[in-house]
Amino acid sequence: MSMSVSRRLAAVTAIAVAGLFASTAPAALAAPPAHAAAPTPPDIPLANVKAHLTQLQSIATANGGNRAHGRAGYKASIDYVKAKLDAAGFTTTLQTFTSSGATGYNLIADWPGGDPNSVLMSGSHLDSVTAGPGINDNGSGSAAILETALAVSRAGLQPTKHLRFGWWGAEELGMVGSKYYVNNLPAAEKTKISGYLNFDMIGSPNPGYFVYDDDPTIEQTFKNYYAGLGVPTEIETEGDGRSDHAPFKSAGIPVGGLFSGADYTKTAAQAQKWGGTSGQAFDRCYHSSCDTSANINDTALDRNADAIAYAVWTLGAATPVPPGQSFENTADVSIPDSPGAAVNSPITVSGVTGNAPATTKVDVNIVHTYRGDLVVDLVAPDGTVYNLHNRSGGSADNLVQTYTVNASSEVANGVWKLQVKDAAAQDVGYINSWKITF
Ligand code: TRP
Ligand code: ZN
Ligand code: CA
Repeated sequence: MSMSVSRRLAAVTAIAVAGLFASTAPAALAAPPAHAAAPTPPDIPLANVKAHLTQLQSIATANGGNRAHGRAGYKASIDYVKAKLDAAGFTTTLQTFTSSGATGYNLIADWPGGDPNSVLMSGSHLDSVTAGPGINDNGSGSAAILETALAVSRAGLQPTKHLRFGWWGAEELGMVGSKYYVNNLPAAEKTKISGYLNFDMIGSPNPGYFVYDDDPTIEQTFKNYYAGLGVPTEIETEGDGRSDHAPFKSAGIPVGGLFSGADYTKTAAQAQKWGGTSGQAFDRCYHSSCDTSANINDTALDRNADAIAYAVWTLGAATPVPPGQSFENTADVSIPDSPGAAVNSPITVSGVTGNAPATTKVDVNIVHTYRGDLVVDLVAPDGTVYNLHNRSGGSADNLVQTYTVNASSEVANGVWKLQVKDAAAQDVGYINSWKITF
């Protein structure tokens, strides 16, 4: 990154933090203050996640080659996960149910503390099919949320929300365990769950990077993480409702999640942007005996585990954007004369949940010798464009004005941009500053 870009980003970060702590006024290039808005999400060690997968593989090998509902390998998997959580200070609950004549188990783990009326829950099914050990499906999600929970414990995290993790039984028989959990939650407990994050197959050997298209705040949180990595994502379309988020969604709980692909085929365009092999399934060992420890793409597993921690840390700390909260970018951005390209000035909004208000205010300060040249747009984090100014105001110079935008369909978290294009030759200028107020 060039010096000017990195300086501009540093300035924006400092200003965004100043917005959350109105009493501080850091200089544009100052180091980030010690009291950051929320603790930094950890990098989840891939080796730890893989060590859990090694254990799940050993459990399957020792128990007839699978970890399926009603089989010894399933209960041994539950015992493994539960022992780790108990040792790390979680309050664990084993919930039993009956399916196809066999006892099934859900494991629920609560991290003590946080607002009991606002619960952020993450879950993964722990059972395999009978055909194989189920390491990508779904040792991958199970191991990643286990390691995220252990990272919560290592960090001594004290989140705003109450954190809960769940490992579901008998998903492969039709989401039996997660349905049982949701259906047996009293109505008052259901309304306390502010979000449910689902992870089912996140280390596919020929991976795609899919984000569930459901609750916009959860979806944007995962997209923000991947945008930071510079890795493109797609909306998950391989069968909506085919995993344990479905019963939560049916109960009116906001849901989201990640997925790296099952038996659908990777297209040429997908191989182009993600690597891997086009014309081949994301997971050729889906539901078969070869879904072993070898059936994992380490990069996908690593990225998705880190994305889970990012989401738990940010959504767990987030509160609705306070009305009147402002974020500003005061870095100058020069606007090339027509027919030059549009330029933009970004503002990162983080640490909040929910949408922007219908009365979102945008203060624009552009220094220019002829404002009738300018087309000025607000671009929301999801790319929606709101036109603020379209060459009006004729032969006056600077554009210094406040606009009110109905941005109520936009998630507040993410990168907002002021985009400016010069549409007529000769006169020139620059973005002096701009500010967004929720
Ligand atoms: N739930 C399926 C299984 O365990 C896998 C799957 C297929 C899936 N399509 C999905 C998971 C979409 C999440 C999202 O066999
Ligand atoms: Zn699965
Ligand atoms: Ca011009």
